[in-house]
Amino acid sequence: MSSKNDIKKEDTENSEVLSPKNPDANFLDQTLRPTTWAEYIGQKNIKENLKILLTAASQRKHPPEHLLFYGPPGLGKTTLAHLIAKETSSQLKSTSGPAIEKVGDLASILTNLSPGDILFIDEIHRLNKAIEEVLYPAMESGNLDIIIGKGPSARTIQLDLPPFTLIAATTRIALLSAPLRSRFSGGVFRLEFYTNDEIEQIINRSAKILKVEIEKEAKEEIAKRSRFTPRTANYFLKRCRDLAQIRGEKLSKAMVMEALNLLGIDDVGLGASDRTLLETIENKFNGGPVGLNTLAAALSEEQATIEDVYEPYLLQLGFIERTSRGRVITDRARKHIGKKLLGLDLEK
Ligand code: ADE
Repeated sequence: MSSKNDIKKEDTENSEVLSPKNPDANFLDQTLRPTTWAEYIGQKNIKENLKILLTAASQRKHPPEHLLFYGPPGLGKTTLAHLIAKETSSQLKSTSGPAIEKVGDLASILTNLSPGDILFIDEIHRLNKAIEEVLYPAMESGNLDIIIGKGPSARTIQLDLPPFTLIAATTRIALLSAPLRSRFSGGVFRLEFYTNDEIEQIINRSAKILKVEIEKEAKEEIAKRSRFTPRTANYFLKRCRDLAQIRGEKLSKAMVMEALNLLGIDDVGLGASDRTLLETIENKFNGGPVGLNTLAAALSEEQATIEDVYEPYLLQLGFIERTSRGRVITDRARKHIGKKLLGLDLEK
């Protein structure tokens, strides 16, 4: 197996391999991640369901059943997997759909599990069909069927796997086949956007961990621009903290506005790419409807990026609508970008 495919063997203390692209952010995310249910803010319904499921499994002395989390990026799918591992004192081994290229990669990961381990597969929608088929019996009955050899002399051997829990995450539930979805016997959970109040609580907690002195209005301003998403809130808090630190001052609302305006983030949390998307629908396609493929070509973006990254928040804001004939901009969005063109809201 090539090193790219190597599974990250982790204890739950030290769970994420630093990415060369963003080593610092990963390290900080690590420290900001809640590790107990008590620290975990929001997603009330999922939390209640999971607590019951995990407690019951532990009383039966069985690993919890397989779980699938889906929803827009940054809402805490990976965080939940880590938290479950911590709360159940299990070892978490994590990998991702694109990292598992061959059936042999998955076989190697599965046969290296210890009893009670949690296997986390991120971006599970990117697993290919042949690999999915090896996963089915592994999830259902703990069997690994491997074909050895080729042609007439090929034979299948069946290995018993140790009891394990698969936790998978995806931003694209629609791309998962029905047979795969149905094997998540513990449940399929959709993560929702957080409320403004929950985001403020998360910023409060993160500010304490990062030892940032921050005014109440500054927290509110970061929350307002955080797209109802904890990852964004924590990222903005860190960038604002940088400015406060070099100025040697307490983090104020004015400083948050300065730091976030400088990053091109407007008063509702849209960045330059979001605004370009809206302006493209409005100006190049007369407000829509415009098909996803046409829009992607006009923006030089992947369709998946538009669907996974930009659209969930724009839909949440009511700035775009998805119709059978394509994407349409709303009056609310028109007002927002119009206001921008007049330069009215930068200081608000
Ligand atoms: N940081 C990221 N997500 C969080 C959450 N749901 N609760 C507390 N802190 C978080």
